Amino acid sequence: MPVHTLACADLVDDRLVASYEDLPADGYLDGDHVYRYRAFGETLLASGEPHWRLGGPFFQSKRLNSRAGGIDRTFAPLAEPAREFARALALRAQGQGIAPRGELLLGCHQIRVVATDAFAGLPTPEGFHQDGFAQVLIACIARHNDSGAVTSVRRLGAASELLYEGSLAAGDALLLVDPLVEHYVSPLTPRRPGRAHRDVVVVTLAPLSAREGRNA
Ligand SMILES: [Fe+2]
Repeated sequence: MPVHTLACADLVDDRLVASYEDLPADGYLDGDHVYRYRAFGETLLASGEPHWRLGGPFFQSKRLNSRAGGIDRTFAPLAEPAREFARALALRAQGQGIAPRGELLLGCHQIRVVATDAFAGLPTPEGFHQDGFAQVLIACIARHNDSGAVTSVRRLGAASELLYEGSLAAGDALLLVDPLVEHYVSPLTPRRPGRAHRDVVVVTLAPLSAREGRNA
């Protein structure tokens, strides 16, 4: 199956939840309104002390991301709680046999999407898309006063074949075999008047051989 669910509530601690309050705005949004905040880092998933490259650059092709692809994007450096969570989640996926064993390139995006009464929050403004990696883990860390944000995963080339549709609760995660599927998350709005947010960690995994090709 190209989609798996896994639980991660036990990997979420107060430090990780609190660290979302410090995320700066995503500087690559269309227009002036800020609805997304994020940080980024990448490392080698291997035994021993991890060495992180923090902040980027992060590159996606124009084909994969028509809105923000084709350029090197630089983000805030990923803080320690998210770094620890990303490694633990990836190791869990390996332990469950749904991610390949051995050394992998791990990328981690920590993302908050906010919504207000005037503006919906857009988790995936590019619509259905692929991230461009071997596996992608989407973990929901927290939700506050939001509704919407329904995740849909469909088989690539078979738009009618919906493999997953659901609203991830805090502590839920999905693993996608990214080359086989496309994913989309619908806009979120406040459930009650006021501000809402949805906090996620997206972990990308790729074989070491992808290191040269990815930034080409
Ligand atoms: Fe994505």
